[in-house]
Amino acid sequence: MPSEISALSLIHRCRRNRRTAAIRDLVQEVRLHPADLIQPLFVVDGEGEPEAIESMPGVLRYSIPRLVERCREVADLGIPAVALFPKFDPSLKDAEGSHALVRDNLLYRAIAAVKEALPDLLLIADVALDPYTDHGHDGVLSADGRTVDNDASVARLTQLAQLEAEAGADWVAPSDMMDGRVGAIRAVLDGAGFTDTGILAYSAKFSSAYYGPFREAVGSLQAAGSAHLDKNTYQLNPANTREAIFDALLDEEEGADVLMVKPAGPYLDIIKTLRECTDRPVAAYQVSGEFAQIHAAARLGWLDLWRARDESLLAIKRAGADMILTYFAADWAATYQ
Ligand code: PBG
Repeated sequence: MPSEISALSLIHRCRRNRRTAAIRDLVQEVRLHPADLIQPLFVVDGEGEPEAIESMPGVLRYSIPRLVERCREVADLGIPAVALFPKFDPSLKDAEGSHALVRDNLLYRAIAAVKEALPDLLLIADVALDPYTDHGHDGVLSADGRTVDNDASVARLTQLAQLEAEAGADWVAPSDMMDGRVGAIRAVLDGAGFTDTGILAYSAKFSSAYYGPFREAVGSLQAAGSAHLDKNTYQLNPANTREAIFDALLDEEEGADVLMVKPAGPYLDIIKTLRECTDRPVAAYQVSGEFAQIHAAARLGWLDLWRARDESLLAIKRAGADMILTYFAADWAATYQ
């Protein structure tokens, strides 16, 4: 310090706690751990080589044998859970999503194969009709075709959840945003003897542009035949906090074991508010578009990929998520020490 400048007399100098890496480590408030993460994985029929998904660099669609290998790698990295998403051939899709109820379809075979090979890996299966419908919606349409019929959709979704449980899913994850689906699924599971099967509810799921790459990955956009699939009559308005919390707490009342917020990064305030409103575990889904956004900027040389990735995940943890679904899970865990 030049001699003519006298030291400020400050009681607190915040920079003292940032001075060295050792101090910064000691004062760090939240940390990520591989055990916080859930790896989403895509599965396709056949025996072929894994298929790339253009807008999701490094994310592949696996045949069942390759999926099992991938799940083993994920488990070996200390990640406790995977969430499976099937991509069906368009020829199997119809307006009712009938293929969802075919007992030996790709998803159920995949669940059974992974469960048999890796019984300790927690297996999560999505409950929604979008991989099976030719219009790409998460449920069945009303008679006039103008909206998604809530109660008729719930009736099918409960059957889908039961088939997933029968195949060996540990948790079923309704991502459809129909009203009453959590309670209905709980009742059907309990009635069929699956009292130990958990429900990870997509409780505050927003109608988001950030699902675009996922819709490419599972083919729901191609099925809909349009560039934009409007789910505004069932997914939440991005402007609404109170409505999101009200809807999420209904899932808690209906018996959800874990409440999820989705997307994660643009909705950190919702994660934090929900965390304060419930004693149930809170999950957050860093969705395909959040992943793609970081990759795209990195590819242009505009962001540092790993630093942006780590910061995005830490921010979700800091907001209050107990667990994070992220396409970065395995990559992140591989660099964890
Ligand atoms: C559909 C479903 C979606 C995602 C998970 N389940 C997309 C949608 O609602 O259209 C999105 C996941 C992602 O973008 O990574 N039931």
